[in-house]
Amino acid sequence: MLERVENLKSQVEATSLTNKEEAEIFRLQYLSKKGAIQELFKAFREVPADQKKAFGAALNTLKDLAEVKHKEALEELESAAVVGENGDLTRPGQPQELGAIHPINAIKDEIVDIFKRIGFNVSEGPEVEDDWHNFTALNFPEEHPARDMQDTFFVQRNPDWALRTHTSSVQVRAMENNQPPIRTISPGRVFRNEAISSRSHCIFHQIEGLYIDKDVSFADLKQVLMYFAKEFFGKAKIRMRPSYFPFTEPSAEVDVYWGLENEIDYKITKGTGWLEVMGCGMVDPNVLRASGIDPEIYTGYAFGMGIERIAMNRYQIPDIRLFTENDKRFLEQFKTGL
Ligand code: DAH
Repeated sequence: MLERVENLKSQVEATSLTNKEEAEIFRLQYLSKKGAIQELFKAFREVPADQKKAFGAALNTLKDLAEVKHKEALEELESAAVVGENGDLTRPGQPQELGAIHPINAIKDEIVDIFKRIGFNVSEGPEVEDDWHNFTALNFPEEHPARDMQDTFFVQRNPDWALRTHTSSVQVRAMENNQPPIRTISPGRVFRNEAISSRSHCIFHQIEGLYIDKDVSFADLKQVLMYFAKEFFGKAKIRMRPSYFPFTEPSAEVDVYWGLENEIDYKITKGTGWLEVMGCGMVDPNVLRASGIDPEIYTGYAFGMGIERIAMNRYQIPDIRLFTENDKRFLEQFKTGL
């Protein structure tokens, strides 16, 4: 009799349960009321008394073994089904598509880094700006055309507020909030009420630079601009043309000598060989005074450039509208192969 138990045990051990049907057949065969194990329990009576103990123990062990095997098989099949629903967890992951850095940001970061290397910090100001910071403190006369409804987006509820028309507003804030020496670079979004075309847009970006200290001279300004031209454009020659801005005196436009070696150079520089890159000048004493800095003690220079223009030149982008259209085909071209 004990032999029958042992045989059954080997059978149970040898059975593999790889799906629910097999598990059910196993249950019927061994564990159900008419199954082989119950049959052996029924045969208990026939076992001679002196063997009953050993037989009973072996049979109980067999029963436990079969029950555990059946239970574990079901649990395993169940969790395999869950994995099936959620996908195969052992499969290699789906590649995640990485975005690209927007060309405007790439240029901005590059310019900011160049100035950071020589001690400039980064400052930012609000995009909705008041008249004081955008115009008045910057020495714009009351009747200046830039204040006109046609150029500036005013906030309807409060005509003292407008979307800033340039990042020069951050200059004023930097001077109001800090004591010289001030060396700061202020990148940001600016807004003008202009007709949108391939060359102009209502929303664009500028970077403003400001340096205020004792004895800052025009020569310092020229030096820093030459450094910038070398670092950013890889060009060593610049020129400064006299210009006018209300907030600087004297004021200048800065051109970088690009060269005229091929057709593209002609196109970029409109046949002159010179590329116009920014406006600059010595901060007007009126601006220093309005911002709480004593012009008898301190002087300074400022400069401002448009990022779109520089990015269009760098990447040969023919239409300024491409920057804001979020066309994936355009943006994907700036992936850096990460
Ligand atoms: N704010 C000027 C603009 O919007 C750019 C500019 C010119 C900024 C001369 C300056 C500067 O700081 O000195 O076109």
